[in-house]
Amino acid sequence: MKNTEHNPAEHTIVTCNLTKKYGDLCAVNRMNLTVGNEIFGILGPNGSGKTTTVLMLTTLLEPTEGTAEVCGFDVRKDPRNVRNSISYVPQDMAVDVRLTGRENVMMYAELYGVERPAEKTEEALRILELSDRADDFAKVYSGGMRRRLELAQALVHNPHVLFLDEPTVGLDVAARKKIWEHIRTLRDAGMSIFVTTHYMDEADKYCDRVAIIDRGVIKAVDTPENLKSMISQDVISVSISGEFSGITIPGVRFAFLEDDELVFYADHGDTALPLVKDALNEAGVRVKAMSVRRPSLDDVFLHLVDNAEDTSPFRLGSFRNMLGKRG
Ligand SMILES: Nc1ncnc2c1ncn2[C@@H]1O[C@H](COP(=O)(O)OP(=O)(O)OP(=O)(O)O)[C@@H](O)[C@H]1O
Ligand SMILES: [Mg+2]
Repeated sequence: MKNTEHNPAEHTIVTCNLTKKYGDLCAVNRMNLTVGNEIFGILGPNGSGKTTTVLMLTTLLEPTEGTAEVCGFDVRKDPRNVRNSISYVPQDMAVDVRLTGRENVMMYAELYGVERPAEKTEEALRILELSDRADDFAKVYSGGMRRRLELAQALVHNPHVLFLDEPTVGLDVAARKKIWEHIRTLRDAGMSIFVTTHYMDEADKYCDRVAIIDRGVIKAVDTPENLKSMISQDVISVSISGEFSGITIPGVRFAFLEDDELVFYADHGDTALPLVKDALNEAGVRVKAMSVRRPSLDDVFLHLVDNAEDTSPFRLGSFRNMLGKRG
């Protein structure tokens, strides 16, 4: 493993107007990204251009226009050096089920020509917590174990940049968490991680920065927190006893009363929360419980992608329901 410190300022991927056209279809459209030593998520729905982007950055697909550099090497002019600096775990499973876990990793160590391949193989298996099962055939591994085995293969040659295309698809909650924990460890050891996902909650929780992509176009790039703050209003719920006849606080709007729960929309939920409580107390309303809910990345995504002019929480709530039904 590398010992470099976590340094987000170090730029390992830089793209300039990176574009891929398949005939008339523009799968990736003038993409400009700068990625450092971080977990950088590219978040978008099916067909939005995530895999196409990864394929270009890993030198497996020729860009139609624009440039991309990985670790300072141009993907077009210097593909060999790019390949020596990276690892790529594709969207579809890549382990050989006829080999054991150890043999799968060893094969990669030898393919990459790493020094002391047996030692490196053991180290990668240990990091991914597969040592105990290293002699089992990969065909008896669970989906989560196979994904971890792919990660072990990918990091056996100590890449600077790791590309992961949908690393947690099809895994249960515990297996997903484990994969992300491993990804974080790699980031902390100095690796840049470029990861695609369409799971908004995972991007929100685990990525340092997220690019939201829709139909090949990057709509926004920022930390999950900053992206969520694009949606100006938070939702405050207050469970009360007593009659409510209205309060006035700048930046806070009463939305509706449902059973004994008042709902407010607030520009800044955290600062508004105590103000709402005080105002209600002064108005003779007893507050039993209250909470503030931040908008989620789902909200941001739908806001950007639908280009919705109406971003009121009411509308966002219905979007959220829609997503919930899909999920
Ligand atoms: N080889 C190809 N020839 C023609 N069109 C392609 C090819 N590969 C991808 N596309 C199209 O390019 C667009 C982007 O595809 P891509 O696979 O990059 O999307 P994605 O975001 O990875 O989707 P998913 O979430 O389903 O994996 C899609 O419309 C897809 O049909
Ligand atoms: Mg894909």
